[in-house]
Amino acid sequence: TRNLAKLMRDRLPRNVQHLLETAGAIGRELDMRVYVAGGFVRDLLLGKPNNDVDLVAEGRGNDIGSRLAHRLAEVLGGRVREHPKFLTCVVIYEEDGKECRVDVATARLEYYEHPAALPTVEASSIKMDLVRRDFSMNALAVRLDSTPFGQLVDFFGGQRDLRDGVIRVLHTLSFVEDPTRCLRAVRFAQRYGFRIAQASEKLIKNALSLKLFERLSPARLFHEFAIICEEPTATECLFMLDSLGILAAIHPLLQMNPARRTFLRRLGEIFSWYRMLYFEEVAEGWIVFFLGMCNNFNFRDASACYTALGLPPQRKQEIMQGRETMRTAATGLTRWLRTREDGGEARVSALDALLEPVSVEGLLALMAQGGEDDPQRRVMSRYITQWRREKADITGKDLIALGLRPGPQFGEILRAVRRAKLDGEVGASSEQAELAVRLSEQTDGRAGQKGPGCV
Ligand code: CTP
Repeated sequence: TRNLAKLMRDRLPRNVQHLLETAGAIGRELDMRVYVAGGFVRDLLLGKPNNDVDLVAEGRGNDIGSRLAHRLAEVLGGRVREHPKFLTCVVIYEEDGKECRVDVATARLEYYEHPAALPTVEASSIKMDLVRRDFSMNALAVRLDSTPFGQLVDFFGGQRDLRDGVIRVLHTLSFVEDPTRCLRAVRFAQRYGFRIAQASEKLIKNALSLKLFERLSPARLFHEFAIICEEPTATECLFMLDSLGILAAIHPLLQMNPARRTFLRRLGEIFSWYRMLYFEEVAEGWIVFFLGMCNNFNFRDASACYTALGLPPQRKQEIMQGRETMRTAATGLTRWLRTREDGGEARVSALDALLEPVSVEGLLALMAQGGEDDPQRRVMSRYITQWRREKADITGKDLIALGLRPGPQFGEILRAVRRAKLDGEVGASSEQAELAVRLSEQTDGRAGQKGPGCV
């Protein structure tokens, strides 16, 4: 009987509140019950930001959700994409120049033809819609069309479990029907610092002993892993997946050992550090942690694990290629560090050439290969934050202003200036300009042309 209207007024951004009120008004107009359900309500009660609105319409007919979606799109000036097989729609509209999406569904019952299959769907009541969901804390809804607005619907003790920090499935077959829920349980446990209820944990073990992961579509498994790898607590999620036996069930080689745990912990810290730098180049979580999970594996073992983790062929090829590039770079890096330690000539430009083909995720993994005070870690950190981003202080325009003839050699000259800058051979831009002129003269000389290559 709890009413969340005040909580919504206090916590939700104005535009989200307006969207919910609009959906409620449409419900009254079209004579249907309208709810916001699932993770949005969970996070509202937890006081965590979540603007992912999932609307559910309850009433007569399979198309009730579609009717709500079309009217909502009309009011918001958007369009509707329908998925009739699943009784769901997405309303896509623009707000302040940004594209927004709202999921709208008919309240529906789902049943599974066989374990780990995709569900068959039938229109139903909000209660049946909520009972088919994964955990009590996600089986919550708020009614939007009623007066008063904002009545909480909690049939299964979701509020209580949120308060107690417990993740609990709603029925014993939950993990059998959808084994990805084992991964979701771990993700939510780590995200919110919750524990998995004892009985639910037993059901995970049961699902594992039935070898249900083997039946899961690779795409769904990979999708869940990719989401986990983007969580700030990804490393802890992987450790928990390991201790529950889920990693070993996916592939025995994925089981953790102390060395791998240390490596993944470091990698997780380095990944967070990189994100805090807010560099334009985004490192993708799944690549970072997939490299980490199979660090030091040979080609065949890594390939087998990536297949078991559900990687689509294109992405698998990408990451396998990335591993090879990383391996070559790692050998060169070790040699470079040794030369430097021995007082030999270890040019930054040579390091740059070694690391240039490595993806940003690979660079983070190379950095994690060094311990806290390890030179490899320090060098990689400097390379990622500084050397890699270094540019020549002069541009093509400056070269033209210097009287050089524009052409493909400009790129080569600027790269050589950058290398000289990395190696500390040139200082201010005036010195870089002098070098550029010298280089241009040499280039022209090589091309057998007369004169200094000036216009
Ligand atoms: N759901 C489910 N079983 C799944 C996936 C989803 O029961 N395997 C239900 C849950 O009720 C969930 C809702 O669908 O709350 C929406 O799913 P999704 O958007 O994937 O997750 P959220 O719970 O919103 O979590 P997140 O905050 O990670 O987006």
